[in-house]
Amino acid sequence: MKALVVFYSMYGHIYRMAQAVAEGVKEVKGSNVELKRVPETLSKEILGKMGALDAQKAISHVPVCTVDELAAYDAIIFGAPTRFGNMCGQMRTFLDATGQLWSQNALVGKVGSVFTSSATQHGGQESTILSFHTTLLHHGMIIVGLPYSFKGQMTSSEITGCSPYGASTIAGGDGSRMPSANELAGASYQGRHVAMIAAKLFG
Ligand SMILES: Cc1cc2nc3c(=O)[nH]c(=O)nc-3n(C[C@H](O)[C@H](O)[C@H](O)COP(=O)(O)O)c2cc1C
Repeated sequence: MKALVVFYSMYGHIYRMAQAVAEGVKEVKGSNVELKRVPETLSKEILGKMGALDAQKAISHVPVCTVDELAAYDAIIFGAPTRFGNMCGQMRTFLDATGQLWSQNALVGKVGSVFTSSATQHGGQESTILSFHTTLLHHGMIIVGLPYSFKGQMTSSEITGCSPYGASTIAGGDGSRMPSANELAGASYQGRHVAMIAAKLFG
């Protein structure tokens, strides 16, 4: 079973979550996982103005994904930060280049799953994941979320991301909050859950 974790991360929060998702996938026997990022659409100048250059440097070793590679995987787990309650433009641009895959039914029957990050607790994590699912459904993918068997999403003893739609983290208004242990556990649970389902279908 081949899984791909493909993400965009401007300041490193989604990247940290993506690593945890990949760790979860690896826990399932017989699964192979690769971590890739979608192409950047912003200039270095703009990234500099957004204070993202150091974080971008830290993920520059991660291979950049091309859309035609997607067909090679049985499961694809997408990670994208929230932008105005939706996925970021970099991920949207990447997905908008998958028309040929769509016309060939290349992703039909594959497992798809989404995780996200937002600055604030109620800043649109659920709307980002649910609106992302629409694209996956147009591709005929089988959508997998983060079931309530991941008990960490039920807690009210701490501020935390994660919902039945997928793992998530809260970056904070200034981006200084990195994913908590609970959020990383949710990400890893989601990776494991996707891999277990995909292994039953494709293993
Ligand atoms: C243009 C723009 C729009 C954003 N919109 C939202 C939003 O609607 N809600 C929110 O909570 N955070 C919003 N954010 C904050 C990002 O979601 C946050 O920087 C991101 O989750 C951090 O993840 P990353 O480090 O992986 O990029 C926005 C950031 C930018 C630059």
